[in-house]
This record gives sequence, C-alpha cells and structure tokens, in this order.
Amino acid sequence: MSATRTPEPGSPEPGSAADVVRAWDARADRYLDLFRHELDGKPFDRAALAEFAARVGPGGRIVDAGCGPCGHVAALLASHGLDVLGIDLSPRCIRLARLEQPAIDFEVMDQRLITADAFGGPIDGLVSYYSLHDQPKRLLSTTFAAWAAVIRPGGRLLVVAKAGTSDGVVDDPLGSGIRVYWAEYTEAELAAAAEGADFSVDTIAARDAYDDEIDARRIALSAVRT
Ligand SMILES: C[S@@+](CC[C@H](N)C(=O)[O-])C[C@H]1O[C@@H](n2cnc3c(N)ncnc32)[C@H](O)[C@@H]1O
Repeated sequence: MSATRTPEPGSPEPGSAADVVRAWDARADRYLDLFRHELDGKPFDRAALAEFAARVGPGGRIVDAGCGPCGHVAALLASHGLDVLGIDLSPRCIRLARLEQPAIDFEVMDQRLITADAFGGPIDGLVSYYSLHDQPKRLLSTTFAAWAAVIRPGGRLLVVAKAGTSDGVVDDPLGSGIRVYWAEYTEAELAAAAEGADFSVDTIAARDAYDDEIDARRIALSAVRT
C-alpha cells in the first residue's frame, strides 16, 4: 500500500489537516454505520480502555483525540467515571458524535494543535484510538509532543494503532471508494515517539485482528507523562 497516483489538482496535500477533513467528512456516516457497536465484540480493547480509566482515576479530565463519528470510546471512558472531551478535525464526525452520544462533550479540534488553555488547564490523560493513521509518519513526534504539552506530569496516555509499514495514499481500506492517507506503525516507532516526548512507556500490548476486522495487528501503548 503506497502512493502511486498523483492527487487531483486543487485537492489538499495528502495527510494534511485539510485532507483529514476531506476524507472524514466524506465517510463519517459510513464509518458510524460500520463501527458504532464495534467495542461490544472487542474484549482486548475494552480492557485496555478500562485499565486506562482505572489508572487515571474517577473524575479525571481526559481527551479522546480523533474521537470519530461514533464517540463510543469517549462514552465507554465516561462510563468508567472519567470527565471526557472528544475532539476531531472532521466537523461531520463531531456533528454525528454529538447526536450519537448526547451526554458527552465533543469539539472540532486538531490533535496536533491542542493547548492546555483549550481544556481549562493541563488534563489527566489522553486516548488516541486509531487517530494516527491519517497523517504522514514524519508527523508522529510532533503529535506526541502536542499530547505531552497538554497532559500533566503523572497523567496517562493510551495509543491504539494498527501495525505495519504503510505511509502514503491508498484506496480507502474501509471500501468507501475514495483515496485516503494511510499510515501504520511499529511498536518501536510508537515507543520511540513516546519516550522522545517526555512519556515513560509502561506497557505495549498487541493482538491479532478479530475475525470481522481488517487483517492487521493492533498495538496498544500505555505511558505516563514524566
Ligand atoms: C479511524 S478514525 C477513529 C475514530 C474513533 N477513534 C474510533 O475508533 O471509532 C480516525 C479519526 O481520527 C480523526 N483525526 C485524524 N487526524 C486528526 C487530527 N490531527 N486531529 C483530530 N482528529 C484527527 C479523523 O477525523 C477520524 O475521525
């Protein structure tokens, strides 16, 4: 999976913020239909999110970065007692997430440009559940640095990502028919980016795809802000 075609004239730079909005506004409704109940069949993921919530502690203020149109990760974390804000670059994703999870707060925001002021001060944790795949891998360290800047020392980070080596424009793996940016990561890349941004990694777990998923290993990195 790599970049082989020239983008249409006038289309956003692949992997840019404008490109994320283009790609996700176009397929947010489809994604919601496909994935709104996905956590029901994913015990590994529910356990990772529950462990994150336990480590943050009840009432902790956390951000679900790249929350998508389902808002189901934000809702699960809220059910564990966390005070959650879901953020996403795609206005369509945020509109759908607000309808889907009316008890949760959602805002349009770029996870690479967040500041503590936007959250009323440093937060207790951040979850990135598949929010790193739409951007070029060269932006990985910038993204971790942005997360580190808003999480208080001792605060928690959970990153879930698909494993692999892709870093370019592909046909949408979800079958929407559009071209999208698609980056995958190794455990070593994620760990290096975390350690390079003042996080201390405590666990990196991985699982194979469940039967109904795209065939790729999933990585879950858990870290604390030093
Ligand atoms: C694969 S979806 C995952 C959505 C959700 N976390 C879930 O698991 O259902 C990736 C999401 O990340 C968002 N995203 C990608 N880059 C982002 C950025 N820089 N800032 C905020 N959201 C971003 C996309 O708009 C999209 O909604």
